[in-house]
Amino acid sequence: MSLSVALDIDPGIDDALAVALALRSSEIRLELVTTVAGNGPLEMTTRNALRVLHHLGADDIPVAAGAAQPLRKPFYGAIGYHGHDALGGIDLPDSPHAADTKTAVDALYEFAATKPGERVLVATGPLTNVAQAFQRHPELPAMLKELVIMGGAFGLTRYGTGNQTPVAEFNIWQDPDAAEVVFASGASMTIVGLDVTNDPATALADDDLARLRSGATPTSRMAADITAFALKTHPNCALHDPLALAVVLDRTLFDFAHGSLEVHAAPDTEMGRTIVRADNPPPCPPAAVASAVDGPRFKQLFLSRMMEH
Ligand code: RIB
Ligand code: CA
Repeated sequence: MSLSVALDIDPGIDDALAVALALRSSEIRLELVTTVAGNGPLEMTTRNALRVLHHLGADDIPVAAGAAQPLRKPFYGAIGYHGHDALGGIDLPDSPHAADTKTAVDALYEFAATKPGERVLVATGPLTNVAQAFQRHPELPAMLKELVIMGGAFGLTRYGTGNQTPVAEFNIWQDPDAAEVVFASGASMTIVGLDVTNDPATALADDDLARLRSGATPTSRMAADITAFALKTHPNCALHDPLALAVVLDRTLFDFAHGSLEVHAAPDTEMGRTIVRADNPPPCPPAAVASAVDGPRFKQLFLSRMMEH
């Protein structure tokens, strides 16, 4: 029986690859996409979510737009990394469909409340939508089977340092107040940080691009174009968000540390730093923090599914 999953995303080139992986994975059923400002402004990330789903033949999956601003701090995009349109400038036509009239908060609540305890939310952007949904519906965290987050840098490996500042990962840095709300929510949580997603063994390189170029499907074509864009300006194409989704597809790819999560939310040079504390007493239930990943096995899973007909 496949697992019902919602993706809360800020596409974003790697978010787009996470959507493609979700649609190609029989372990799960992607039932909802919600969008948040992050890699680009909300209207851009929402446009991108719609056109990625349309390109991949998944117009039936509802898209609900969420927060245009972080909870407190001003919005700051990452257009530099993701291109002028936050989707690598790849040539994907606009979707003929619009986002749902429902807000992300309402859509996320309805998603979880439909089958309490059975549904998984994977968040690969700033946590503003998740935090607002938890604030509006305090019973929501317990309704989720699991919340999987791409975010943070916990110093668990040599890759576990910041990418927005020396200490902070972009998603958490973009909205540290939302992270604080989510980390304290009591939801059953797994977080995948730069500790594993910046491991070069998990990233795509030139040989992977050549393999993707040999494909002849909308999925392989989009993955190839995104990878080519990333390789123009970076040594590899990091798969931060597909790695977070992979926790739901095959948990054995990862090792985990366990403890309660802390984030430095004050607007100073430490803003966005994340810490996992193994010694904190309850009530915060311990989160699982990815501490290692089998990079080659993850890449094989990812690439084989990008290439499937
Ligand atoms: O730090 C990496 C994260 O920030 C990824 O989710 C990427 O898409 C950006 O949102
Ligand atoms: Ca993202």
